[in-house]
Amino acid sequence: MKSAQDLKIPSRYGSGAITFHWLMFVLVVIVGVLGLLHDSWPKQTQRFWINIHALLGLLLWFTLMARFWWRRRHRPPALMENVGAFSRRMGALVHFGLYALLFVTPIVGIITFVYHGRILILEFSRSILESSQIAPFFIPPRIYTAT
Ligand code: HEM
Repeated sequence: MKSAQDLKIPSRYGSGAITFHWLMFVLVVIVGVLGLLHDSWPKQTQRFWINIHALLGLLLWFTLMARFWWRRRHRPPALMENVGAFSRRMGALVHFGLYALLFVTPIVGIITFVYHGRILILEFSRSILESSQIAPFFIPPRIYTAT
């Protein structure tokens, strides 16, 4: 496998980089807005929306993993020569901070999800499960009764 140094430096961002960028932007906005709306949903639909939030948050995390994998094989274009050393260092620091947040936030979300005794199924599948006799065998009672 070629190392990052062996790869040719492109003159502009390619379609892969642009797709990852905008896909993650859209997911961050949707997941963030859904997160802020948690307390505003009517009680009957709240669980559904929190599950959508969690599913899209997980999708965001896996997209981040795919982006890391992809990035190791595709170098970004060089910054313009007139970008000073301070801006380069700050740019790298801010990038690192954003990636760290994108990595850690969903993990904190998963911990909160489990801690609140939630289960990752949407309402239609939940109602099928609840009406069946087998549900208590694979949903722990505390989680099964959680709202
Ligand atoms: C980058 C991805 C994510 C962002 C930006 C995000 C954002 C948020 C925000 C803004 C809140 C509301 C916090 C508050 O008002 O106190 C929240 C709550 C929450 N998030 Fe996320 N979240 C993300 C990923 C996830 C994931 C992957 C899960 C679960 C698999 C998750 C589960 C939760 C849960 C369970 C809550 C609290 C809701 C409750 O049970 O009352 N989040 N999130």
